[in-house]
Amino acid sequence: MTQDEMKLAVAQAAVEYIKPKLTADSIVGVGTGSTANFFIDELAKISHLFGGAVASSEATAERLKGHGIDVFDMNSVDQMEVYVDGADEFDGRMNLIKGGGGALTREKIVADVAREFVCIVDESKKVDLLGNFPLPVEVIPMARSQVARALVKLDCMPVYREGFVTDNGNVILDLEGMQIEQPAELEATINNIVGVVTNGLFARRGADVVLMGTPNGVETIS
Ligand code: 5RP
Repeated sequence: MTQDEMKLAVAQAAVEYIKPKLTADSIVGVGTGSTANFFIDELAKISHLFGGAVASSEATAERLKGHGIDVFDMNSVDQMEVYVDGADEFDGRMNLIKGGGGALTREKIVADVAREFVCIVDESKKVDLLGNFPLPVEVIPMARSQVARALVKLDCMPVYREGFVTDNGNVILDLEGMQIEQPAELEATINNIVGVVTNGLFARRGADVVLMGTPNGVETIS
């Protein structure tokens, strides 16, 4: 089974998982990335079963609209049944690294509102310890150097993602060389640095359920 076949399988499993929870008024939160794109294409097949979606990025909004799915502004939504999104790393204890696509801040906002966060990954994302994938940190542009100096003190190497601007007009520093033993604590520590918008650790609000594609089928972890 190829990686794309596993991504398609988890996308289909996610649609089956959320289907019984949806009503005509339900709003579905939708993540960003290649796995989320498979999910969007599968979600479109049941678009008659829910009211619309909130997107975690401009790219996702465009793809949803391309399927004729109504996309709502986050500010007009106070309840969301479910949020479905991929991840860059998953540690088996529902902690994630996200933001490889640079959409981490909007992803975190949507995940925070959702009653349930369903994470969809293929088995290549499963690790024992988070940190092999560089941890993205979204930063206000004028604070980039100052934030980088503060991050170095956390024993990591911040690398400026050159030529990339987030949907919020900010920049990304990717933290290399981390071995993250205490994700919730590190998430809070980094977010406390002045000039940081947020970081890609999803530990304080991790996944509620992970659907993981393997060559033998989709595993459900909760
Ligand atoms: C984007 C993300 C994605 O969920 C993450 O990068 C995984 O992407 P993919 O499904 O393409 O591997 O956090 O900001």
